[in-house]
Amino acid sequence: MTSINYNERIPNNVGLGENRRLQRALESWLPNYLNWWDELGPEGTQGYDVYLRTAVDVGTEGWAHFNHVKMPEYRWGIFLNEAIPDRRIGFGDHKGEPVWQEVPGEYRSTLRRLIVTQGDTEPASVEQQRVLGQTAPSLYDLRNLFQINVEEGRHLWAMVYLLHAHFGRDGREEAEMMLERHSGDPDKPRILGAFNEPTPDWLSMFMFAFFTDRDGKFQLASLAESGFDPLARTCQFMLTEEAHHMFVGESGVMRIVKRTCEVMDEIGTDDPERVRQAGAIDLQTMQKWINFHYSISVDLFGQELSTNAANYYTQGLKGRYHEGKIDDDHRLVDYSYPVLMLNGDKIVEESHPALTSVNEKLRQDYIDDCQRGMNRWNKVIEKSGHDFQFKLPHRGFNRAIGNFAEVKVSPDGRVISEAEWTKNATDWMPTESDREFVKALMKPCYEQGKIAGWIAPPTRGVHGNPFDYEYVKFN
Ligand SMILES: [Fe+2]
Ligand SMILES: [Fe+2]
Repeated sequence: MTSINYNERIPNNVGLGENRRLQRALESWLPNYLNWWDELGPEGTQGYDVYLRTAVDVGTEGWAHFNHVKMPEYRWGIFLNEAIPDRRIGFGDHKGEPVWQEVPGEYRSTLRRLIVTQGDTEPASVEQQRVLGQTAPSLYDLRNLFQINVEEGRHLWAMVYLLHAHFGRDGREEAEMMLERHSGDPDKPRILGAFNEPTPDWLSMFMFAFFTDRDGKFQLASLAESGFDPLARTCQFMLTEEAHHMFVGESGVMRIVKRTCEVMDEIGTDDPERVRQAGAIDLQTMQKWINFHYSISVDLFGQELSTNAANYYTQGLKGRYHEGKIDDDHRLVDYSYPVLMLNGDKIVEESHPALTSVNEKLRQDYIDDCQRGMNRWNKVIEKSGHDFQFKLPHRGFNRAIGNFAEVKVSPDGRVISEAEWTKNATDWMPTESDREFVKALMKPCYEQGKIAGWIAPPTRGVHGNPFDYEYVKFN
């Protein structure tokens, strides 16, 4: 077997070339990764030449370069943000102490679990999106899908690097497991619920990138505060890429909204049935997709009150969103936080120790961020003069985790009976026939400069190229 020069093969800024042990560990993982990509990555794309961004550095200027690349030859690199000299732990019991470059023994298994849980989501989303390459509305969208896929692959590399570099044999075993669990697999599913749901159509794809990738943003941001410096620096860099995923989601939904408004103008009615007949996605259907993707993403933040989350915080392993910008003692000794809880069949606001409420605080930051994006979608509808507004459902709606999991909550936040839920569920959540309708619209549109009829073209292309650029070459 020829030995591969990983220093060249894997762009990195972690001195891989000088660490033989680590190099060998990653060397034995790479073929498994490539097999996984081959089997469960984007289907049927081996020969495609895709105009991709590849991370080559971590500087704010020129951290990436753009080129046509065959995806299996993509250079999945390992990058950590530059170390901040004399960085100190910013919260918890160790606040003010120097950050750790090695894993503290007493936090080893907790840190490993945090890294594995984050890492597991990365290949999961690639698996979820694997058939979407057959039905993209344009070459531009096809390229964006593949860009996200290769970067989620790189995020898996980022977590696997940490496991290999800092967790010895256990870490190597966990890295193998990352490729053995599969999204939606009944025997070995991915760890978190939302990552076992299929992403069968492009409306779901954009909603996933908006709502579920955004959970990723908030998880990464709180891990970027970690006292374990290699994890913090890894997550800081991942956030740079993650921003693009959310852009794809937000602008994707916005372009569908725009097209739907145009079609309503053309046919002179807002009637959802007529909109569908005209080949666009009615706003009511989009609201159902919002309800679904938002609610399963809200679950990802976990229990409202959590001693685990409190421990992660106290131990300095996982902070809050933008910890440094929060004006308190960063230990949360005497602070409380308002949490919506279930009291019989009422939802009430209760005050709880801020420490056990850190999940809820992160969930709130996430909800605020979702609302801002949704406001921009609503602006498009408003500007075009149509009388409709998207709304985020109540955080208790359609929950499988946390205290609302045991009841049914309407989108407007009332605890309702099972019967009322059943009666209305088809108005609130995508039905089989809604999914059939959306699926029927999904026809590939791969002629340069052309776009499917249910979505508007983007306002600009990628990296200074026009929309009608040949983003993907099929060979
Ligand atoms: Fe990611
Ligand atoms: Fe992402």
